[in-house]
Amino acid sequence: MNVEQKQQALINEIIHAMSKNTMHRITFYDYMKMALYYPELGYYTKDKLKIGKNADFYTSTSVGSVFGKTIANHFVELLPYTKNGEGYSILEMGGGDGRLARDVLNEMKKKHIGIYEKLTYYMLETSPYHKNIQHDNLKHHINHVIWINDVKELPSPFEGVIFSNELVDAFPVHKVIQRNGKLQEIYVSWDEQESTFEEIVDELSNEQLETYFKEQDIILKEGQIAEINLEAKQWMQTVGEKLHRGYIVTIDYGYPAEELYASHRHEGTVMCYYHHLANDNPYQNIGEQDITTHVNFTALQNIGEQVRLETIWFTTQSHFLLNNGILNYLHEIELESMEKRDLFQDEALKINRAIRQLITPGEMGETFKVLVQQKNVGKQSYRFLTEVWKQYGM
Ligand SMILES: C[S@@+](CC[C@H](N)C(=O)[O-])C[C@H]1O[C@@H](n2cnc3c(N)ncnc32)[C@H](O)[C@@H]1O
Repeated sequence: MNVEQKQQALINEIIHAMSKNTMHRITFYDYMKMALYYPELGYYTKDKLKIGKNADFYTSTSVGSVFGKTIANHFVELLPYTKNGEGYSILEMGGGDGRLARDVLNEMKKKHIGIYEKLTYYMLETSPYHKNIQHDNLKHHINHVIWINDVKELPSPFEGVIFSNELVDAFPVHKVIQRNGKLQEIYVSWDEQESTFEEIVDELSNEQLETYFKEQDIILKEGQIAEINLEAKQWMQTVGEKLHRGYIVTIDYGYPAEELYASHRHEGTVMCYYHHLANDNPYQNIGEQDITTHVNFTALQNIGEQVRLETIWFTTQSHFLLNNGILNYLHEIELESMEKRDLFQDEALKINRAIRQLITPGEMGETFKVLVQQKNVGKQSYRFLTEVWKQYGM
């Protein structure tokens, strides 16, 4: 099947799903789930390049290996507190093309061989396409990587670090609207005459949607649209329960609830990416474009507390990377350039640009947040927190 045929096949499947409903509609959640994950036809499941220059979007990993190297520094600080009899464990979820894992493992092998030798790096990725590329990108670390299909396959008790970058923003969400003084849901149906999908507002499909905002003291303004990511809650509960001792490090773009649902974000945060152009229309390029929403970090923290996870650090990506030594790589590469007598310092300039992109507020530095939660590790005097306290004169 060519691109158009695949797209039509996916549209037919979505219309078929609608026809099974007496009202001929599905929730936005079901629509987004099919558009992204329908077997072989959804955006993430089909054989199609997604991340990088010739694809649809960049992640921090695409900017350069310096992102993974800096994350490796953070892992090296956390892992000693999680050591079990066997060694060290990291689980990365939604690792995409596996380049971030490769950059982390390269750095560990180069600078922390003691940890690297005892490290098992688990990968859990739902996209068969990405899983294949991961095998290729991680071929030099193959003795350290284990692919799993479910968190249940991890050793029990699991002690280590559970990590993700831009996983939660890819979960399908429910879309809601405050109308006539109450919360209602946005459904999707097929407009036969116009041959397009259209949105319909009706009662909530699920009572968890009603309690979601109440639990977080959020009241939307009349007419305000917002997304509710119930899968994010479920995910945090699953990984939090699985983790016996260690840390969960979650990087994604988003805000605390109060800021995410502020009235100026009147239309919600659905964003789509197609050939590096952003748009807010999830009903075009179906199965060919990424669909994402901003993450509610308050919800992740609240659920975390219910499964005995304690938030130890919630910060911007910029602060996280600076604190974990990203600028040292600039110095390192400048020295290397001098040794190689590279007068124009091409490599150094490239890394300089990458670092700026990762930490500058207007680019990836501020919208991206990092949440670090811990469980059963005890009270540690973390270097990164001491640095934070020093900043605030504590
Ligand atoms: C935006 S990409 C992130 C890519 C990568 N982490 C990076 O930094 O380049 C999201 C990835 O999460 C995967 N994914 C989505 N839901 C998942 C789930 N429930 N478990 C594991 N992976 C999932 C998708 O298939 C996709 O590869």
